[in-house]
Amino acid sequence: GDVAERSIGIIRSLKHLEGPMLPILHAIQAEFGYVPEDVKPIIASELNLSRAEVHGVVTFYHEFRDHPAGRHVLKLCGSEACQSMGGDRVADRVREILGIDFHQTTLDGAVTLEPVYCLGLCACAPAAMLDDEVFGRVDELCISEIAAEVRR
Ligand code: FES
Repeated sequence: GDVAERSIGIIRSLKHLEGPMLPILHAIQAEFGYVPEDVKPIIASELNLSRAEVHGVVTFYHEFRDHPAGRHVLKLCGSEACQSMGGDRVADRVREILGIDFHQTTLDGAVTLEPVYCLGLCACAPAAMLDDEVFGRVDELCISEIAAEVRR
């Protein structure tokens, strides 16, 4: 169908690259918002790999999703500098407020919560990113503002 055709076009335009897998997966996710299950066997056959190998790469790299994201994507930094500045408490609070865990989407489809490993804002830890906007020194107030924002 349509997904298969679009995927094949994307894959064929990138498969000549050295190490084509990651560029292909990024392009697929940019196109569909996630890496659809049906696309994995197509990538596998185009690259002469097994389906398991493709699946392994998709699950290894945290930036690839296997389901469509919500209207917003909230990423919380889980790296060391942010952890040492209370990042894990922030994550607990966010999970509590949104009622979801990492890699999940709220039932109303408002927001998907994802971990990220360093946003380059270590000096302003803990850091978060809502869609394309980054936030430093995330605290309780910031969390409630973000939660209100995504629910609008
Ligand atoms: Fe969190 Fe760098 S460790 S932004």
